[in-house]
Amino acid sequence: MKYNFDEIINRRNTYSMKWDGGDFIKRIGITERYDENTLPLFTADMDFSVPQPIIDALHQTVNHRIYGYSIFPKEYYEAIQYWFHKRHNWVINQEEIIYSPGTVHALHMAVKAFTNPGDGVIIQRPVYPPFTKVIEGNGRRVRNNALVCDENGYYSIDFADFEAKAKEKNTKLFILCNPHNPTGRIFKPEELQKLATICLENDVLIIADEIHGDLIRRYEKFVPLAKVTNNTEHIITCTAINKTFNVAGLHCTNLVIPNKKLRRKLTNEMGMHLASPFAISALIAAYNEGEDWLEQLKEYIDITMEWIVKFLAEKMPKVKVRIPEGTYLMWMNFGGYGISPSEVHERIYNKANVILEDGKMFGEEGLDFQRICVSSPRPMIQEAFQRIAREFADLN
Ligand SMILES: Cc1ncc(COP(=O)(O)O)c(C=O)c1O
Repeated sequence: MKYNFDEIINRRNTYSMKWDGGDFIKRIGITERYDENTLPLFTADMDFSVPQPIIDALHQTVNHRIYGYSIFPKEYYEAIQYWFHKRHNWVINQEEIIYSPGTVHALHMAVKAFTNPGDGVIIQRPVYPPFTKVIEGNGRRVRNNALVCDENGYYSIDFADFEAKAKEKNTKLFILCNPHNPTGRIFKPEELQKLATICLENDVLIIADEIHGDLIRRYEKFVPLAKVTNNTEHIITCTAINKTFNVAGLHCTNLVIPNKKLRRKLTNEMGMHLASPFAISALIAAYNEGEDWLEQLKEYIDITMEWIVKFLAEKMPKVKVRIPEGTYLMWMNFGGYGISPSEVHERIYNKANVILEDGKMFGEEGLDFQRICVSSPRPMIQEAFQRIAREFADLN
């Protein structure tokens, strides 16, 4: 491998939420214990160096010595168009692209722009917790089309329930997460087509959060929602370099909105956002020159996941887990131990001193689960699992 993903880069004292955010993380209730031996594997960023072309582009920007208000050059739009055309054969027109300083910010704004207080918004729990927050925090109602989990831990969509929720009075919006955090499902084109049709028939807009779309297993395929239907007038897609290239701190999300009216409405709600020159130069380098790094990263993560599944089968056979189709997240079911979720938490967070995310944060469907981000050097992941296995050894 050209890149050394095993390299351990010390992230302490770099304002890292994961590595320096102990007080904050305790305050929001993720953990009680956080000290210099804590292994934090909760928040979805990576402990790997970003690709060299991004570092070089950022150096060039720093070296200029002036960091003023910046405009989006044509190279910015061309880089986005190049990436999505090359990887997904998706042709995006420049005017359809709207910058947002983050995906969650865009979701907030979209809920405000396209729904009224009291309106219903469909989500599919267990799901990334901010989806619930952007709905309830804005006085809208969650319509939960819970995903259905089979005995092998494979999740699928309950379409009859989805259609019923879409038909409910005042359901205006559906926030799709694909690839799905935390279950790792990549929805198939047939599934996406059905969702898009039901929404179109019932006047429900779709915001497709596809920001994990580049981070999938080597043998899987991800198809954007906008590519499975001829009618994209009711679809807003969130794309980002944040997850793919480990630059979440640069806050660079791009929405693709083919419908002009929706574009205007959302931009009115958001106001005009300018990106930093760092976000602009990083995006251009990432999409034009980052593919080779991404493909190697995917291979590294795939091998880590294979190691985890093998380790759990040998040392913690009561944990049910499967390799996700997409994302660098693993969703582990601890229900087989027959102990309470709070005891599972106690053993992992306080005794093993590893921070994951309790499944209950993703909805009641996640009660028995723990979510881990495996986007760290393998030795770190291996140590975390060894620590956890020690604390469950008496229950095997
Ligand atoms: C599905 C999903 N959407 C959005 C985000 C956050 O994105 P951003 O940092 O661009 O707001 C995350 C981060 O974990 C995520 O998993």
